[in-house]
Amino acid sequence: MLVAIDGPAGAGKSTVARAAADALGFTYLDTGAMYRTVALARLRDPQADPQALEIELGDRVLLDGEDVTDAIRAPQVTEVASQVAADPAVRAAMVTRQRALIAGGDWVAEGRDIGTVVAPDAELKVFLTATAQERARRRAAQTGRAVDAVLAEQERRDDRDRAREASPLLAAPDALTVDTTGLSLQDVVAQIVRLADERRTAESTR
Ligand code: DC
Repeated sequence: MLVAIDGPAGAGKSTVARAAADALGFTYLDTGAMYRTVALARLRDPQADPQALEIELGDRVLLDGEDVTDAIRAPQVTEVASQVAADPAVRAAMVTRQRALIAGGDWVAEGRDIGTVVAPDAELKVFLTATAQERARRRAAQTGRAVDAVLAEQERRDDRDRAREASPLLAAPDALTVDTTGLSLQDVVAQIVRLADERRTAESTR
């Protein structure tokens, strides 16, 4: 079974997806980490072929065997990730890997295009949003940076993610949209876990 969680940066996707996966006993898939790893590889070598990279996701993120868990969170990588994510060849290579992973077992997968492109038949699709100000405030609190600077960068990336031709950030028509502004993330997790449990029960009795 697959729970797809999409939405813009800072909407709470990672926190919610990780906690929901834990509560359900599902495996968590952070697809953004894949685009970040490609970005890091391209920063080091602009010719890096996304198909040839060995990317391992788990407690740590490995690029060709090297632990890049912290390196892929650097602001420069964040910026380049949104650029490489607009490249159709990069997207095709990542989507193929993501589909192969989620083909077996139970997953909570988080990204921008899980419910629309990677797995349009996901049993549960959630689109998490929050106001731009709230999302920037959360990111700033996590990173210790100024809210205004985070907000400006975030708007540039959001615009790029929404405007790109290849798999733009958008809610699937059958996704449940949850605005997390002012909501506790625990409440959001509880709601998703309840819905996933309902779908799981419905499937097992079908
Ligand atoms: O969620 P994140 O900030 O780690 O994602 C990094 C970048 O990758 C961001 O610009 C959006 C992009 N991305 C994407 O285009 N599709 C996904 N499924 C996941 C992330």
